[in-house]
Amino acid sequence: MPAVIVGVNIGGRPNYLTVSYCGIVQHTPPMISVAINRLHYSIEGMKENGTFSVNIPSKDMAGIADYCGLVSGRKVDKSKLFDNFYGKLKTAPMITQCPVNLECKVVKSIDFGGTNEIYLGEIVQAYTEDKYLSGKLPDIKKIDPLLFSMHDNNYWALGEHVGKAWSIGKKYEPKK
Ligand SMILES: Cc1cc2nc3c(=O)[nH]c(=O)nc-3n(C[C@H](O)[C@H](O)[C@H](O)COP(=O)(O)O)c2cc1C
Repeated sequence: MPAVIVGVNIGGRPNYLTVSYCGIVQHTPPMISVAINRLHYSIEGMKENGTFSVNIPSKDMAGIADYCGLVSGRKVDKSKLFDNFYGKLKTAPMITQCPVNLECKVVKSIDFGGTNEIYLGEIVQAYTEDKYLSGKLPDIKKIDPLLFSMHDNNYWALGEHVGKAWSIGKKYEPKK
C-alpha cells in the first residue's frame, strides 16, 4: 500500500494523519479516495472545510510519517511538524517536505456505518518540484515513495523496475 500523509485544517490549524487506505478513483476529472476512521480528529477538518490534501512522503520521511499515525491531533499539535503551504482552496494544508502534494475538494463522503468514512476528493491541483521530474513527468525513483504492508506493519521502499505497462503483456501467450 502507499503510506500518504493526509492534511486537513481544523479551526484554522493544520492537522496531519497517516493514511494507507488511499486510492486513485479516476483520471477525468482526477479523483482520489481516502478512508478515515470516524473517531479520528482529522474527520472534523473534513467536515469543517470539505477539503483535504494527500501528501506523498519519500522513504526518508518514514519516522515523521509514522509519528503522524501514532498521535492524535486531539492530544498533540501536529501543525508545526512540517513547513505548511496552501493552494487555491485555501483550507487544504500541504507539506513542503513531501515530493508530491495533491490538493483535494471533497465531492462525496460515503458512510457505510462501519469504522471508516470514505472521502472522494477531486484533485484540483498537484504540486511537485523539478527535482522529482524526468522531463515533464513525475519520476517514481526520484520521489522514492514510502510504502507499507499492513499485515505485518512494515514500511518499505521501491524495488526494481519490472517492465513496461500496456506492453509486456503483448508478448504473453496464454497456456492452451
Ligand atoms: C502506516 C499507517 C497507516 C494508517 N492508515 C490509516 C488509514 O488508512 N485510515 C485511518 O483512518 N487511519 C490510518 N492510520 C491511523 C491514523 O493515522 C492515526 O490514528 C492518527 O493518529 C489519527 O490522527 P488524528 O486523530 O490527528 O486524525 C494509519 C496509521 C499508520 C501508522
